[in-house]
Amino acid sequence: MSEILKIIQERQSARVPFDPNRPVSKENLKQILEAARWAPTAHNMQNFDVIVIDDQAVLEKIGNIKSRISEEFLRENYEQLSFSKEELLKKKTGILGTMFPPAWVDPAKMAQVARETLPGPISQSMRGSSTLLIVTYDSRKRAPASRGDVLGFMSLGCVMENMWLMAQALGVSLQILSSFAAPQVEAGIKQLLGVPEHVKIAYTCRLGYPAAPTKYFRVRRDIEDFTHWNKFGKKGL
Ligand SMILES: Cc1cc2nc3c(=O)[nH]c(=O)nc-3n(C[C@H](O)[C@H](O)[C@H](O)COP(=O)(O)O)c2cc1C
Repeated sequence: MSEILKIIQERQSARVPFDPNRPVSKENLKQILEAARWAPTAHNMQNFDVIVIDDQAVLEKIGNIKSRISEEFLRENYEQLSFSKEELLKKKTGILGTMFPPAWVDPAKMAQVARETLPGPISQSMRGSSTLLIVTYDSRKRAPASRGDVLGFMSLGCVMENMWLMAQALGVSLQILSSFAAPQVEAGIKQLLGVPEHVKIAYTCRLGYPAAPTKYFRVRRDIEDFTHWNKFGKKGL
């Protein structure tokens, strides 16, 4: 297998606590940022900034920001879940429902859970991570003629993947934390870090070294499932 494909296949989300005493070195961070630097972006706009958080005091302040679970999230999350390995293998997309608290995956309880769960500190999601990367973009700009700035957002995804693959190559684990871009959390982070109003958080990643095994059951569609030859729906070589 080629080296690049091996790194791509072995990259995975690390949803376990990280060792709080093992920060990611500046050298490794620089390489991860160098990978971001060379990401393809629409019209080479390089429509991103990265805020590196590796100061314990700042991490603590961020961790104190509160977020709350929404019913919308619970319901849409549920759509992606399987409840056995067999079901997941059959579907080939999504993740296992066992990753979530039981009350989050019971449609009958979702409204109540959302209503009654008090906002919790986002340190719960940071789980010992001593490094965060917050990727932002300027909401006043968009890629030329790109409706809804789809091309701009795709570009931010390229930045994400470049950084993730570089981290993987360096043996650094990573998890995307989408909830950090939720309005309430975003507002708290922006205020804390002095981020201008027009700059938005695209996504946040936590980086580090796992304090527990990270391997979990992952599925993908087969190439034939998503490939069409010369006409949509035409399968096979
Ligand atoms: C835009 C984006 C947002 C994501 N948000 C989260 C997140 O908030 N929490 C999380 O644990 N994983 C998040 N993920 C990771 C995906 O769930 C994960 O990539 C997918 O399930 C495939 O698993 P793998 O990364 O282990 O291959 C996100 C991934 C992407 C690309």
